[in-house]
Amino acid sequence: MRPSLKNKVQFNHKINNMKKNIRFILSLLLIFAAACTSDSESDLIDDGNGDGDNNGGPITYNADIRSVISSACLGCHSSPPRNGAPFALTTYDLVVTRAQNGSLLTAISRQSGSPGAMPPSGRLPQATIDLIEQWIDEGLLEE
Ligand code: HEC
Repeated sequence: MRPSLKNKVQFNHKINNMKKNIRFILSLLLIFAAACTSDSESDLIDDGNGDGDNNGGPITYNADIRSVISSACLGCHSSPPRNGAPFALTTYDLVVTRAQNGSLLTAISRQSGSPGAMPPSGRLPQATIDLIEQWIDEGLLEE
């Protein structure tokens, strides 16, 4: 074999190996993509209870509301309250008290930045406000 031809053969061999590698990586990516797609499809199945998940059943404090209060409110409405907050929202009973007297929904529905709007840093997503409103409408279930 002439040197130049030999080089060419070696070069083609390298290219073929690279192609194999690329095909291998692409099929891995496809497998991952397929796995992700099927996941997100099942996530999107809504049970129609308004909370955007597929747990089924009505909205409850334990399943749907506690985590919202915990991440958006307990920075101040802790026990004892901080940053000038007038009361704690650390238990089901405490949250229910404010839900029943109407102040909770009023406060989270106020326009971002207006006096008494909760949380003060900015309005919750509308879907979250709707979820809390629906929880109140459905009777403030705990679990
Ligand atoms: C950064 C601190 C802070 C966070 C976070 C916060 N609050 Fe408050 N909250 C306050 C303070 C201070 C007051 C009293 C002064 C006022 O009304 O602005 C208050 C008052 C309230 C009131 C009484 C309002 C009224 O008009 O009587 C309610 C109800 C309330 N907060 C609910 C919430 C809820 C629900 C969240 C979470 C979604 C929340 N707060 C998050 C600081 C906070």
